[in-house]
Amino acid sequence: MDPAATEADPTTMTHDHAKGAHQASPVRRLTVPALRSMKLRSERIAMVTAYDATFAQMIDEGGADMLLVGDSLGMVVQGLDSTLPVTVDEVIYHCRAVARGARRALIVGDMPFMSWQLSTEQALKNAARFLSEGGAQAVKLEGGVEAADTVRRLVSLGIPVVGHVGLLPQSVHAMGGFRVQGKTREAAQSVLDDAIAIADAGAFALVLEGIPSDLAARITESIEIPTIGIGAGPSCDGQVLVCYDLLGLTPNMRPKFVKRYAELYDDGKQAIQSYCAEVKSGAFPSAEYSFGNVQGEVLAPQATLHAPGVHVPPGYGPTH
Ligand code: KIV
Repeated sequence: MDPAATEADPTTMTHDHAKGAHQASPVRRLTVPALRSMKLRSERIAMVTAYDATFAQMIDEGGADMLLVGDSLGMVVQGLDSTLPVTVDEVIYHCRAVARGARRALIVGDMPFMSWQLSTEQALKNAARFLSEGGAQAVKLEGGVEAADTVRRLVSLGIPVVGHVGLLPQSVHAMGGFRVQGKTREAAQSVLDDAIAIADAGAFALVLEGIPSDLAARITESIEIPTIGIGAGPSCDGQVLVCYDLLGLTPNMRPKFVKRYAELYDDGKQAIQSYCAEVKSGAFPSAEYSFGNVQGEVLAPQATLHAPGVHVPPGYGPTH
Protein backbone atom coordinates (compact mmCIF):
# COMPACT_ATOMS: atom_id res chain seq x y z
CA MET A 1 0.00 0.00 0.00
CA ASP A 2 1.33 3.40 -0.99
CA PRO A 3 1.44 5.39 2.26
CA ALA A 4 0.89 8.60 0.31
CA ALA A 5 -2.40 7.18 -0.89
CA THR A 6 -3.79 6.81 2.63
CA GLU A 7 -4.62 9.38 5.22
CA ALA A 8 -5.36 9.30 8.93
CA ASP A 9 -9.10 9.03 9.39
CA PRO A 10 -10.16 11.50 12.03
CA THR A 11 -13.23 9.39 12.77
CA THR A 12 -10.98 6.62 14.11
CA MET A 13 -9.88 8.81 16.98
CA THR A 14 -12.68 11.23 17.60
CA HIS A 15 -15.95 10.25 16.00
CA ASP A 16 -18.65 8.80 18.22
CA HIS A 17 -19.08 5.77 15.98
CA ALA A 18 -15.43 4.83 16.34
CA LYS A 19 -15.15 5.21 20.08
CA GLY A 20 -14.44 2.01 21.94
CA ALA A 21 -11.75 -0.45 22.80
CA HIS A 22 -9.47 0.52 19.87
CA GLN A 23 -9.61 4.26 20.32
CA ALA A 24 -5.97 4.76 21.20
CA SER A 25 -3.88 3.17 18.46
CA PRO A 26 -3.43 5.16 15.24
CA VAL A 27 -4.55 2.85 12.42
CA ARG A 28 -5.08 4.58 9.09
CA ARG A 29 -8.36 4.00 7.33
CA LEU A 30 -8.16 3.16 3.63
CA THR A 31 -9.45 5.98 1.47
CA VAL A 32 -11.34 6.13 -1.79
CA PRO A 33 -8.23 7.31 -3.74
CA ALA A 34 -6.18 4.53 -2.11
CA LEU A 35 -8.67 1.90 -3.24
CA ARG A 36 -8.87 3.31 -6.76
CA SER A 37 -5.10 3.31 -7.06
CA MET A 38 -4.94 -0.40 -6.16
CA LYS A 39 -6.22 -1.17 -9.67
CA LEU A 40 -3.33 0.79 -11.19
CA ARG A 41 -0.89 -1.36 -9.23
CA SER A 42 -2.80 -4.58 -10.06
CA GLU A 43 -3.33 -5.06 -6.32
CA ARG A 44 -6.53 -7.02 -5.67
CA ILE A 45 -9.19 -5.69 -3.31
CA ALA A 46 -10.71 -7.96 -0.66
CA MET A 47 -14.21 -6.93 0.42
CA VAL A 48 -16.40 -8.76 2.95
CA THR A 49 -19.83 -7.97 4.34
CA ALA A 50 -20.21 -7.21 8.05
CA TYR A 51 -23.19 -6.39 10.21
CA ASP A 52 -21.91 -5.99 13.77
CA ALA A 53 -18.90 -4.74 15.72
CA THR A 54 -17.41 -8.13 16.65
CA PHE A 55 -17.46 -9.48 13.10
CA ALA A 56 -16.26 -6.11 11.80
CA GLN A 57 -13.24 -6.23 14.11
CA MET A 58 -12.44 -9.81 13.08
CA ILE A 59 -12.80 -9.10 9.36
CA ASP A 60 -10.86 -5.84 9.62
CA GLU A 61 -8.00 -7.50 11.52
CA GLY A 62 -8.14 -10.35 8.97
CA GLY A 63 -7.09 -7.85 6.32
CA ALA A 64 -10.24 -6.95 4.36
CA ASP A 65 -9.87 -3.65 2.52
CA MET A 66 -13.57 -2.85 2.38
CA LEU A 67 -16.48 -3.80 4.63
CA LEU A 68 -19.90 -3.79 3.05
CA VAL A 69 -22.85 -3.38 5.38
CA GLY A 70 -25.02 -5.11 2.81
CA ASP A 71 -28.78 -5.32 2.67
CA SER A 72 -28.00 -9.06 2.61
CA LEU A 73 -28.40 -8.57 6.37
CA GLY A 74 -32.10 -9.09 5.64
CA MET A 75 -31.38 -12.68 4.64
CA VAL A 76 -28.55 -13.72 6.98
CA VAL A 77 -29.39 -11.67 10.09
CA GLN A 78 -33.15 -11.13 9.86
CA GLY A 79 -34.08 -14.49 8.28
CA LEU A 80 -35.96 -12.98 5.32
CA ASP A 81 -36.09 -14.66 1.92
CA SER A 82 -35.11 -11.50 0.03
CA THR A 83 -33.46 -8.15 0.73
CA LEU A 84 -36.55 -6.14 -0.23
CA PRO A 85 -38.01 -5.38 3.22
CA VAL A 86 -34.71 -4.03 4.63
CA THR A 87 -34.95 -0.34 5.57
CA VAL A 88 -32.50 2.57 5.58
CA ASP A 89 -32.79 2.80 9.38
CA GLU A 90 -31.87 -0.87 9.74
CA VAL A 91 -28.78 -0.66 7.53
CA ILE A 92 -27.66 2.51 9.33
CA TYR A 93 -28.08 0.78 12.71
CA HIS A 94 -25.75 -2.01 11.52
CA CYS A 95 -23.35 0.51 9.94
CA ARG A 96 -22.88 2.19 13.31
CA ALA A 97 -22.01 -1.14 14.92
CA VAL A 98 -19.57 -2.00 12.11
CA ALA A 99 -17.94 1.44 12.32
CA ARG A 100 -17.21 0.82 16.02
CA GLY A 101 -15.46 -2.47 15.23
CA ALA A 102 -13.38 -1.69 12.12
CA ARG A 103 -10.44 0.67 12.02
CA ARG A 104 -8.66 0.13 8.67
CA ALA A 105 -11.21 -1.04 6.14
CA LEU A 106 -13.30 1.47 4.24
CA ILE A 107 -16.96 1.01 5.24
CA VAL A 108 -19.68 1.00 2.58
CA GLY A 109 -23.37 1.24 3.46
CA ASP A 110 -25.81 -0.47 1.09
CA MET A 111 -28.78 1.60 -0.04
CA PRO A 112 -31.90 -0.57 0.30
CA PHE A 113 -34.70 -1.19 -2.17
CA MET A 114 -36.40 2.08 -3.25
CA SER A 115 -34.27 4.21 -0.96
CA TRP A 116 -32.91 6.40 -3.79
CA GLN A 117 -35.17 5.93 -6.84
CA LEU A 118 -38.05 8.27 -5.92
CA SER A 119 -36.22 11.59 -6.30
CA THR A 120 -32.79 13.17 -6.20
CA GLU A 121 -33.74 14.66 -2.84
CA GLN A 122 -34.57 11.21 -1.44
CA ALA A 123 -31.29 9.80 -2.76
CA LEU A 124 -29.21 12.63 -1.28
CA LYS A 125 -30.99 12.58 2.07
CA ASN A 126 -30.66 8.83 2.53
CA ALA A 127 -27.12 8.56 1.18
CA ALA A 128 -25.94 11.36 3.45
CA ARG A 129 -27.35 9.54 6.49
CA PHE A 130 -25.04 6.57 5.87
CA LEU A 131 -22.07 8.90 6.24
CA SER A 132 -23.31 11.27 8.95
CA GLU A 133 -25.23 8.79 11.14
CA GLY A 134 -23.83 5.42 10.11
CA GLY A 135 -20.11 6.21 10.16
CA ALA A 136 -19.71 4.80 6.60
CA GLN A 137 -17.30 6.36 4.12
CA ALA A 138 -19.29 5.42 0.99
CA VAL A 139 -22.62 4.05 -0.21
CA LYS A 140 -23.46 1.30 -2.69
CA LEU A 141 -26.49 1.25 -4.89
CA GLU A 142 -27.82 -1.36 -7.31
CA GLY A 143 -28.50 -0.28 -10.87
CA GLY A 144 -27.02 0.50 -14.27
CA VAL A 145 -27.87 3.13 -16.88
CA GLU A 146 -31.01 4.12 -14.95
CA ALA A 147 -28.95 4.85 -11.81
CA ALA A 148 -26.22 6.89 -13.50
CA ASP A 149 -27.73 10.35 -12.93
CA THR A 150 -28.18 9.64 -9.23
CA VAL A 151 -24.61 8.38 -8.93
CA ARG A 152 -23.34 11.53 -10.69
CA ARG A 153 -25.27 13.79 -8.32
CA LEU A 154 -24.13 11.96 -5.15
CA VAL A 155 -20.51 11.99 -6.28
CA SER A 156 -20.67 15.68 -7.22
CA LEU A 157 -21.72 16.44 -3.65
CA GLY A 158 -18.90 14.46 -2.08
CA ILE A 159 -20.60 11.13 -1.39
CA PRO A 160 -18.42 8.30 -2.71
CA VAL A 161 -20.43 5.62 -4.52
CA VAL A 162 -19.85 1.94 -5.28
CA GLY A 163 -22.01 0.76 -8.18
CA HIS A 164 -23.56 -2.71 -8.54
CA VAL A 165 -24.55 -4.27 -11.86
CA GLY A 166 -25.33 -7.74 -13.21
CA LEU A 167 -27.48 -9.80 -10.85
CA LEU A 168 -29.37 -7.28 -8.74
CA PRO A 169 -30.89 -8.95 -5.65
CA GLN A 170 -33.30 -6.02 -5.20
CA SER A 171 -34.75 -6.88 -8.64
CA VAL A 172 -35.24 -10.55 -7.78
CA HIS A 173 -38.87 -10.55 -8.92
CA ALA A 174 -38.16 -8.82 -12.23
CA MET A 175 -35.28 -11.25 -12.91
CA GLY A 176 -37.43 -14.28 -12.01
CA GLY A 177 -35.09 -15.37 -9.20
CA PHE A 178 -31.42 -15.08 -8.32
CA ARG A 179 -30.22 -15.88 -11.84
CA VAL A 180 -26.91 -15.35 -13.60
CA GLN A 181 -27.24 -12.29 -15.88
CA GLY A 182 -25.61 -11.39 -19.20
CA LYS A 183 -25.58 -14.89 -20.67
CA THR A 184 -26.66 -13.95 -24.20
CA ARG A 185 -24.81 -11.54 -26.47
CA GLU A 186 -27.51 -8.86 -26.06
CA ALA A 187 -27.76 -9.33 -22.31
CA ALA A 188 -23.98 -9.15 -21.97
CA GLN A 189 -23.92 -5.89 -23.97
CA SER A 190 -26.57 -4.48 -21.66
CA VAL A 191 -24.51 -5.32 -18.53
CA LEU A 192 -21.42 -3.78 -20.18
CA ASP A 193 -23.43 -0.61 -20.98
CA ASP A 194 -24.58 -0.48 -17.35
CA ALA A 195 -21.01 -0.82 -16.06
CA ILE A 196 -19.70 1.93 -18.36
CA ALA A 197 -22.57 4.25 -17.41
CA ILE A 198 -21.87 3.84 -13.68
CA ALA A 199 -18.11 4.26 -14.11
CA ASP A 200 -18.64 7.37 -16.25
CA ALA A 201 -20.98 8.78 -13.60
CA GLY A 202 -18.10 8.81 -11.12
CA ALA A 203 -18.48 5.66 -8.99
CA PHE A 204 -15.11 4.70 -7.51
CA ALA A 205 -15.68 0.92 -7.63
CA LEU A 206 -18.21 -1.43 -9.17
CA VAL A 207 -19.63 -4.69 -7.85
CA LEU A 208 -20.21 -7.25 -10.61
CA GLU A 209 -22.62 -9.90 -9.36
CA GLY A 210 -23.64 -13.17 -11.00
CA ILE A 211 -22.28 -12.77 -14.53
CA PRO A 212 -20.12 -15.01 -16.77
CA SER A 213 -16.39 -14.77 -16.13
CA ASP A 214 -15.52 -13.60 -19.64
CA LEU A 215 -18.04 -10.75 -19.44
CA ALA A 216 -16.57 -9.70 -16.08
CA ALA A 217 -13.10 -9.74 -17.64
CA ARG A 218 -14.31 -7.58 -20.53
CA ILE A 219 -15.90 -5.06 -18.15
CA THR A 220 -12.80 -5.01 -15.94
CA GLU A 221 -10.57 -4.06 -18.86
CA SER A 222 -13.10 -1.54 -20.21
CA ILE A 223 -13.39 0.71 -17.16
CA GLU A 224 -10.81 2.51 -15.05
CA ILE A 225 -12.39 1.88 -11.66
CA PRO A 226 -11.89 -1.40 -9.78
CA THR A 227 -14.44 -4.15 -10.33
CA ILE A 228 -15.34 -6.28 -7.35
CA GLY A 229 -16.81 -9.63 -8.26
CA ILE A 230 -19.24 -11.97 -6.55
CA GLY A 231 -19.99 -14.93 -8.75
CA ALA A 232 -18.18 -13.12 -11.58
CA GLY A 233 -15.02 -15.17 -11.92
CA PRO A 234 -11.32 -14.54 -11.34
CA SER A 235 -10.60 -11.55 -13.60
CA CYS A 236 -12.17 -8.85 -11.42
CA ASP A 237 -9.97 -6.37 -9.56
CA GLY A 238 -11.34 -7.63 -6.27
CA GLN A 239 -13.84 -10.02 -4.72
CA VAL A 240 -16.65 -9.72 -2.20
CA LEU A 241 -18.40 -12.45 -0.22
CA VAL A 242 -21.07 -12.42 2.47
CA CYS A 243 -19.22 -13.11 5.74
CA TYR A 244 -21.76 -15.72 6.88
CA ASP A 245 -21.18 -17.63 3.62
CA LEU A 246 -17.39 -17.59 3.68
CA LEU A 247 -17.30 -18.55 7.36
CA GLY A 248 -19.71 -21.45 6.85
CA LEU A 249 -22.53 -20.00 8.95
CA THR A 250 -25.28 -20.63 6.40
CA PRO A 251 -26.12 -24.34 6.66
CA ASN A 252 -28.98 -24.24 4.16
CA MET A 253 -27.26 -22.32 1.38
CA ARG A 254 -24.33 -23.43 -0.76
CA PRO A 255 -24.19 -21.27 -3.87
CA LYS A 256 -21.62 -22.36 -6.45
CA PHE A 257 -19.64 -19.11 -6.19
CA VAL A 258 -19.11 -19.35 -2.43
CA LYS A 259 -15.94 -20.89 -1.09
CA ARG A 260 -16.23 -21.72 2.61
CA TYR A 261 -13.06 -20.91 4.51
CA ALA A 262 -14.43 -22.28 7.81
CA GLU A 263 -17.38 -24.28 9.10
CA LEU A 264 -18.41 -22.08 12.00
CA TYR A 265 -22.02 -23.24 12.05
CA ASP A 266 -20.96 -26.84 12.71
CA ASP A 267 -18.24 -25.78 15.16
CA GLY A 268 -20.63 -23.46 16.98
CA LYS A 269 -23.37 -26.07 17.19
CA GLN A 270 -20.91 -28.59 18.60
CA ALA A 271 -19.77 -26.05 21.21
CA ILE A 272 -23.39 -25.36 22.25
CA GLN A 273 -24.04 -29.11 22.53
CA SER A 274 -21.01 -29.49 24.83
CA TYR A 275 -22.11 -26.53 26.95
CA CYS A 276 -25.67 -27.85 27.29
CA ALA A 277 -24.41 -31.33 28.23
CA GLU A 278 -22.06 -29.89 30.88
CA VAL A 279 -24.77 -27.67 32.37
CA LYS A 280 -27.11 -30.62 32.62
CA SER A 281 -24.46 -32.94 34.12
CA GLY A 282 -23.19 -30.24 36.51
CA ALA A 283 -19.68 -30.33 35.01
CA PHE A 284 -19.95 -26.61 34.26
CA PRO A 285 -19.11 -24.43 36.10
CA SER A 286 -16.21 -26.25 37.75
CA ALA A 287 -14.01 -24.56 40.41
CA GLU A 288 -11.97 -22.97 37.60
CA TYR A 289 -14.98 -20.91 36.56
CA SER A 290 -16.29 -20.13 40.07
CA PHE A 291 -15.44 -17.48 42.67
CA GLY A 292 -14.68 -19.80 45.61
CA ASN A 293 -15.98 -19.58 49.11
CA VAL A 294 -16.86 -16.90 51.66
CA GLN A 295 -13.97 -16.11 53.99
CA GLY A 296 -15.26 -16.94 57.44
CA GLU A 297 -18.70 -18.16 58.22
CA VAL A 298 -21.32 -18.64 55.55
CA LEU A 299 -24.21 -16.24 56.06
CA ALA A 300 -27.28 -17.61 57.72
CA PRO A 301 -30.18 -17.98 55.29
CA GLN A 302 -32.22 -15.21 56.96
CA ALA A 303 -29.35 -12.65 56.63
CA THR A 304 -30.02 -11.71 53.01
CA LEU A 305 -27.55 -9.60 51.07
CA HIS A 306 -30.30 -7.53 49.53
CA ALA A 307 -33.43 -6.03 50.98
CA PRO A 308 -36.37 -8.44 50.83
CA GLY A 309 -38.30 -8.01 47.61
CA VAL A 310 -35.40 -6.45 45.74
CA HIS A 311 -34.83 -8.36 42.53
CA VAL A 312 -31.18 -8.84 41.60
CA PRO A 313 -30.88 -9.78 37.94
CA PRO A 314 -28.70 -12.77 37.12
CA GLY A 315 -25.38 -11.96 35.54
CA TYR A 316 -24.74 -8.91 37.70
CA GLY A 317 -21.72 -9.33 39.87
CA PRO A 318 -17.96 -9.34 40.14
CA THR A 319 -15.72 -10.43 37.29
CA HIS A 320 -12.82 -11.55 39.47
O1 KIV B 1 -25.96 -6.92 0.20
C1 KIV B 1 -24.91 -7.50 -0.09
O2 KIV B 1 -24.30 -8.20 0.71
C2 KIV B 1 -24.37 -7.30 -1.43
C3 KIV B 1 -23.20 -8.13 -1.83
C4 KIV B 1 -23.64 -9.51 -2.06
C5 KIV B 1 -22.48 -7.56 -2.97
O3 KIV B 1 -24.88 -6.50 -2.16
